[in-house]
Amino acid sequence: MKKNIALMRGDYSSPEIVAQAVRVLDKIAEKYGHEFVYTDIAMGGNAIDKYGDPFPDQELEKCLASDSVLLGAVGGPKWDHLPGDQRPEKGLLKMRGGMKLFANTRPAKIWPQLASASPLKEEIVAKGIDFVVLRELTGGIYFGEHRTEETECEGKTEKRSVDIMTYTEHEIERIGRVAFETAMKRGKKLCSVDKANVLDSSRLWRSVMHRVKEDYPEVEYSDMLVDNCAMQICRDPSQFDVIVTENMFGDILTDEASEITGSIGMVPSSSLGATTCGVYEPIHGSAPDLAGKDIINPIACILSAAMMLRYSFDMPAEADDIEAAISRVLDAGKRTADIMSEGMECLSCSGMGDAILAEL
Ligand code: IPM
Ligand code: MG
Repeated sequence: MKKNIALMRGDYSSPEIVAQAVRVLDKIAEKYGHEFVYTDIAMGGNAIDKYGDPFPDQELEKCLASDSVLLGAVGGPKWDHLPGDQRPEKGLLKMRGGMKLFANTRPAKIWPQLASASPLKEEIVAKGIDFVVLRELTGGIYFGEHRTEETECEGKTEKRSVDIMTYTEHEIERIGRVAFETAMKRGKKLCSVDKANVLDSSRLWRSVMHRVKEDYPEVEYSDMLVDNCAMQICRDPSQFDVIVTENMFGDILTDEASEITGSIGMVPSSSLGATTCGVYEPIHGSAPDLAGKDIINPIACILSAAMMLRYSFDMPAEADDIEAAISRVLDAGKRTADIMSEGMECLSCSGMGDAILAEL
């Protein structure tokens, strides 16, 4: 099969991991007789440097014309001084909104080889960690109005900032359906996370989820408040199969969920909308402190490429092949610095790429 892949190499250490993922994709293409054609796309800090815009329209057009997008990570201190609407992160949000990628899937699964890297107690990890978080990705407070204005208070002028969180029923329903469908393919358990004791948007969220749940009688459904969920993820993560939640809660909970599995450097993600053209990216950032040192862990990016093969290109055998190769590399005691432990062999970023390629 021929597939056009839009490549966002990203900022700081990100191009280093994307390079390793491309090597793996090329190996898969050779092994299975596919052709992957890459188009470089500027987004984030690199697009600001090149075009003065974190995600110009012509780059969005190229993404929409592709079969899917593979992204590293964007942002970093070089662009921190810029106003909110010109920052690299704005490019990411414009991409998600422009490609209508409302459903973000982030797995939290412990690799048995890395169980000791989890900060949780052994007896908690032993009960198993294997759940996915469905994060709503194109609505809520990240896409609401943001403004900062001057205001008068007791005769003094001060600043006042406003960020608005909005959800409509159809936005909640479509992510809800994806979450129930995901649960049906897994352990048939779904936990919807909100803050319905305080927020109107959460009360609407909950009522829509309850409506959708009528169509999925086989799924064991529960509601949980987000503060409780943050606690439950570290107290007993084995209780979760699928979690569905709004954009900001999902942003926060998925960092926590990745940490308990040992390293954020191991967690891939997919973002999809109504079509199979999606964006695949590691959930970690651009790691500016690691840039240029060839030490960042490329596995999350390589696993993201595997997810792209599985979910957008319908190539499950190829995806399994990549995941099994990574597992064998870990079995052999090979690690990168972030997942290093005593007695293991510490590899560079490209060294980890070599090791995975050798297993394919
Ligand atoms: C993520 C990131 C982004 C987000 C930032 C960089 C805007 O933290 O993908 O989780 O908050 O969505
Ligand atoms: Mg985040």
